Amino acid sequence: MSTTPATIIGRPTPRVDGPLKTTGTAQYAADFHFEGMAHAVPVVATVASGRIRNLDTSAAEKMPGVLLVLHHGNIGPLYRTVPGDQNATNSEVRSAFEDDVVRHWGQYIALVVAETLEQARAAAAAVHAECDAQPALLRPGLDDYKDARKTGSTRGDFDSAFKDAPVKLDQTYITPIETHNPIELHASVAVWAGDNLTMYETTQGVVNHRVVMAQTLGVPVENVRVVTRFLGSGFGGKLCPWPHCAMNAVAARRLGRPVKLSVTRSMMFSSVGYRPRTEQRFRLGASKDGKLLALKQDYLNVTSILDDYDEGCAEATPYLYSVANLEVTSGLVHRNFGAPMYMRGPGAVPGLYALESAMNELADELKMDPLKLRILNDAETDEDKKMPFSSRHFRECFEVGAKKFGWERRTPEIGSMRREGKILGWGLAGASWVALSLPCTAHVEFHANGRVSVRSGTQDIGTGTYTIFAQVVHEKTGISLDRIDVVIGDSALPEGPMSGGSMVTGSVLTAIAAASIEAMKKMTALAASTEGSPLKGAKPEDLIFADGRIRKKDQAAGDPEFADILHLARLNGLSAEGKTVPTWENPKAKGVSLHSYGAQFVEVEWEPEIARLRVSRVVTVIDAGRIINPSAAANQIEGAVVMGVGMGLLEETHHDRRTGQPINGNMADYLMATCADTPQIDVTFLDYPDPAMGEYGARGVGEIGLAGVAAAITAAVYHATGVRVRELPVRIENLLESKMLEA
Ligand code: MOS
Repeated sequence: MSTTPATIIGRPTPRVDGPLKTTGTAQYAADFHFEGMAHAVPVVATVASGRIRNLDTSAAEKMPGVLLVLHHGNIGPLYRTVPGDQNATNSEVRSAFEDDVVRHWGQYIALVVAETLEQARAAAAAVHAECDAQPALLRPGLDDYKDARKTGSTRGDFDSAFKDAPVKLDQTYITPIETHNPIELHASVAVWAGDNLTMYETTQGVVNHRVVMAQTLGVPVENVRVVTRFLGSGFGGKLCPWPHCAMNAVAARRLGRPVKLSVTRSMMFSSVGYRPRTEQRFRLGASKDGKLLALKQDYLNVTSILDDYDEGCAEATPYLYSVANLEVTSGLVHRNFGAPMYMRGPGAVPGLYALESAMNELADELKMDPLKLRILNDAETDEDKKMPFSSRHFRECFEVGAKKFGWERRTPEIGSMRREGKILGWGLAGASWVALSLPCTAHVEFHANGRVSVRSGTQDIGTGTYTIFAQVVHEKTGISLDRIDVVIGDSALPEGPMSGGSMVTGSVLTAIAAASIEAMKKMTALAASTEGSPLKGAKPEDLIFADGRIRKKDQAAGDPEFADILHLARLNGLSAEGKTVPTWENPKAKGVSLHSYGAQFVEVEWEPEIARLRVSRVVTVIDAGRIINPSAAANQIEGAVVMGVGMGLLEETHHDRRTGQPINGNMADYLMATCADTPQIDVTFLDYPDPAMGEYGARGVGEIGLAGVAAAITAAVYHATGVRVRELPVRIENLLESKMLEA
């Protein structure tokens, strides 16, 4: 399967930032401390809808240590970001404290700044808001939606094909609101020096954050610098700035002191996004032997009152299977919740849960192996874009996974498989995710101290970005990893992409490779032109750069190190720039459809006597182009699978129907998969380089690992228990209906 040569590219490489993290040396946003720093604590609305009639801050202002209370009445101008500006992606259309209207529980209505965190917290509790509450839209279900639907991808004639189809399926699948729960809380430290602002942030995009903050605060973009050296993950929740960042920056400017704001875990359930609830009706029409004839997806997702956030549930629908007649429609349902935000595998993950659940149900309807149904309907070309795929091995994912899982031993009857007194359920599902190279720049520099650095304004969300950047520089220059410095997480660096969409690998590596090659070229030319260099006078084209040395092509060793040449030339360093052309400008990506693929195989154990269900085993096969670092990549997929267990069985944010308050808005009541829920996970990468993905053919991994897991779980649950759950998560209450309880 693997054609990857045995270089450092494709070798499991321990994280270069591992020691910094395990020794507590890595500085996360909230770890930054400055002389004279004050602390900010937000005050949140406790109604879902209304108008603030009176905000009484007088008691809070008199409390010990209180320096400032900011609110709608005194924040001064904050601006919205320019609509449609791709370089300024914001989370909410409304700016902080823009008006006195409350549109969701937990909306920030004031910010208290004090000398200490304790003083700020106490004073925030003493701010009293009188609100004229209005009736709020809090109904969790979305099926009351009556407005027109947006038409998405369409081909053929769904209506007549579905009408005539011998086998039909018509089901609705529901995914709940889920909350991003990265370990690291959102935090912002603002430091002004005159008109220049430095923000120590936990953001997945320092470059975007900088532009948004400049537009929001109304300051020139060159006056803003955003630093995120390390991220304790984000899951998409940190893709763009939230209102607390601007509030905090205004407070710091007003006080002329650094201010730190750390969003609490409970606030994170209402003020920094969530995966919106989706309701997706799927209609599938097929021939008696399982050929898809018609497919329609009608999805709705919830969004806030002011934001038109579209979850994009049809991400994978148009190209995953071959079907002549297809239609997608969608609608947005506005409710009194905060703004949704992309959450790991946005669109595709809820979308594939529904599509793959429908495919599994269709297979049962047809009394057909769900694996055979996938293979029978595999798409040879992208029938939506009418293009060939750049590199698609969807079918091989299923075939390899089936072998590893032992799928041929499956007996389809419900409750028919047992092990050690437990009933086993087996299910599978397909996965897919976007692949895209974003435009970016990297610099590689040789330094006179014998080190080499690589610099780009992107960040490591925890996935191994630091390490793979060092791998590329090592591969090109031969300089050992311990002499390579990766410098990222700073908007002052050459522009790099957001850590989102699993796109950093597929974007930045090409620029780093190009910068490395260019820097080596400059070094060899310098060696040939520098006075006193043993290579002085050589033709640059006769020289090569290898293992950190410059030498003649036909000579084995004994030639100068780059640092020697830099010393002779009296240079401190020599750097070169490399760029990645985005997919939409890459001739090799023209006219092809680019995606990653995968197959998920899940085993559940069901103990009817005590109604206990566990996911016991997952086999996942991923086709994500070339894999740069198999251990970091497998770690991504394992984490995604664990998140999939949470999505399938545990995660759901509940809101109080009267107030809109998240009632399980804490780590005790919001259930997530933990170590104890973790199944045995077997990850395989197919490792086919994608010719449309730049230097290495890597598409990047992360989100793909979550796609399909929940659908495979619900299929396995049905196989074990006979209970068909179409609304996530699968609850014990659902399983109590199982006939297997009497078995
Ligand atoms: Mo991911 S939701 O693109 O951070």
